[in-house]
Amino acid sequence: MVASTSSAIVLHINGDKYPLSVDHRTTLLDALRDRLDLTGTKKGCDQGQCGACTVLLDGRRTVSCLQLAVAAEGREVTTIEGMADGERLHPVQQAFLDLDGFQCGYCTPGQICSAVAVIQEHAAGWPSAVTGDVRPEAGPPPLTAEEIRERMSGNLCRCGAYVSIVQAVARAAAAEAGAPAGTEVAA
Ligand code: FES
Ligand code: FES
Repeated sequence: MVASTSSAIVLHINGDKYPLSVDHRTTLLDALRDRLDLTGTKKGCDQGQCGACTVLLDGRRTVSCLQLAVAAEGREVTTIEGMADGERLHPVQQAFLDLDGFQCGYCTPGQICSAVAVIQEHAAGWPSAVTGDVRPEAGPPPLTAEEIRERMSGNLCRCGAYVSIVQAVARAAAAEAGAPAGTEVAA
């Protein structure tokens, strides 16, 4: 008996269910773009190096080019198409727009998905490689430009829009924390 090389799965994406049959080697990125027409998620390197394909899997960021679609079954996938609340942009999307956090825009969906997770990870007290005091009782470190740069370092931007990206992440984080406008860190 020859083992099947494809499976019927149901992907849960942005609150909707997508049944499809996939070859077991199909990445989540290719399933999103080529099978489901969710082309907001971009393919850059296709080998886990650039972050253009970043999506959230059960709320945590991942590079979808290194995830098999079959392994995503039963998990909640959030792509850039699922960030806005109807006509209202996610605060991170709005900050990127307001502060010109992009030029060509190719890396932007991945940057925004990553930034959404960065803000949540920071608020939950996760340290980064540049966090000085990693004791749990120290609480979240200030979300400085250095912290943002480190936490966003998996997302490359060939246009070099990094200064504005850091400012946009800082503004969105401050807004979500309820800080008054203008109190975000400078890049
Ligand atoms: S396309 Fe996935 S990390 Fe570059
Ligand atoms: S805005 Fe062009 S690659 Fe980042």
